[in-house]
Amino acid sequence: MPVHKQEFAKKGVSGPRGTAMVNFRPLVSATSQRRLSALLPSVLTFAVIVASGGLLLVIEKGMLNNMETPPPRGNGKNANLEQVRHLDQSVDVDSQVLKEIRNRTIRSMCSQKNMPHNVWSLTPLQRRTVLQHILVNEEHRFLYCYVPKVACSNWKRMLKVLSGALPGVDAKGKMDHRSDLLFLSDLQPEQIRHRLRHYYKFMFVRDPMERLLSAYRNKFGEIESYQKKYGAEIIRRYRKGRSKDANIAGDDVTFTEFVRYLVDEDAERMNEHWMPMYNLCQPCAVTYDFIGSYEQLEDDSAHVLQKVGAPPHLRFPERQSWYKPVTKETLHYYLCSVPQKLLRELLPKYILDFSLFAYSLPNTTAEHCRH
Ligand SMILES: *[C@@H]1O[C@H](CO)[C@@H](O)[C@H](O)[C@H]1NC(C)=O
Ligand SMILES: *[C@@H]1O[C@H](CO)[C@@H](O)[C@H](O)[C@H]1NC(C)=O
Repeated sequence: MPVHKQEFAKKGVSGPRGTAMVNFRPLVSATSQRRLSALLPSVLTFAVIVASGGLLLVIEKGMLNNMETPPPRGNGKNANLEQVRHLDQSVDVDSQVLKEIRNRTIRSMCSQKNMPHNVWSLTPLQRRTVLQHILVNEEHRFLYCYVPKVACSNWKRMLKVLSGALPGVDAKGKMDHRSDLLFLSDLQPEQIRHRLRHYYKFMFVRDPMERLLSAYRNKFGEIESYQKKYGAEIIRRYRKGRSKDANIAGDDVTFTEFVRYLVDEDAERMNEHWMPMYNLCQPCAVTYDFIGSYEQLEDDSAHVLQKVGAPPHLRFPERQSWYKPVTKETLHYYLCSVPQKLLRELLPKYILDFSLFAYSLPNTTAEHCRH
């Protein structure tokens, strides 16, 4: 620990910002307080390691501003990535504590001078992406940044109910993802500025690996248009002997092929279903009032609904009956079906999703996959 602390200081994050993280005592209840003290070393390890392990360097060099994600191919940073895994999500972390960790981490990282501080300091492409992902509700004065594969259909449904376009959240029928919704990108700069300043802003996050697996299983397992468009392209690119094949259904992309594809793609131009949550919602450029999580969907949704003054009878919809959860075992199975070296190459692309939202990196050791 002391070694890490020194490193932390050396890299120049001490002072007010550094201390904010060290003087980490957000809690009220005694039980939480006890859990917090048990958690503290790993929290610090997490924060310090993330800060000292490459990310800061990336930030200092302004690479994020230059629309670049950390280089995906091995350059020695992977060793640090592995250490971040210390923060074990499986311990029963009081969700309040986890929220506070997220809050502090985001504030600390986003206060670095090369991070964007508002949407106008983003590049036009970054700005377009985030404005197209923020939904506006005028009746209750809030902004919701939607992340596909994180209960976003249900939230869109909820928005329609709140704006009077749908009679109830359980209304039957296929969800139309665009109609009756107002996007921040539909508005004029002055209107955008006003809403960003005065409206309640929230987003929902999910374990980055779970989200990718969920996108993979849904899009390549079930959706023909994705198989035709992305599946065929992936197979042409990554399956031996198929590069010239014009007749590819694209319905049997393996998870490894999908990961290979992600490693080679530019995070800023990805399809929204696998684009990093950071790029979709820009949590440094937009100061969200609340970041809910998929893992706490029910409680967090209820919290938001209460905050925006939704009618008390309104409940967040139940998960659909066809909903296929990603279990720990399923995730382990898929992650271990990928060469672990390849998986390690993928992680830098999603490092801000892991670090800002406090998710632990997957264990990419050979021993782990033997179980
Ligand atoms: C972080 O904490 C501050 C102060 O308590 C609060 O105003 C803000 O809404 C929180 N942000 C998030 C994303 O939870
Ligand atoms: C990864 O998994 C192996 C085997 O289960 C375990 O021994 C090791 O401690 C884990 N590493 C981390 C960083 O969690």
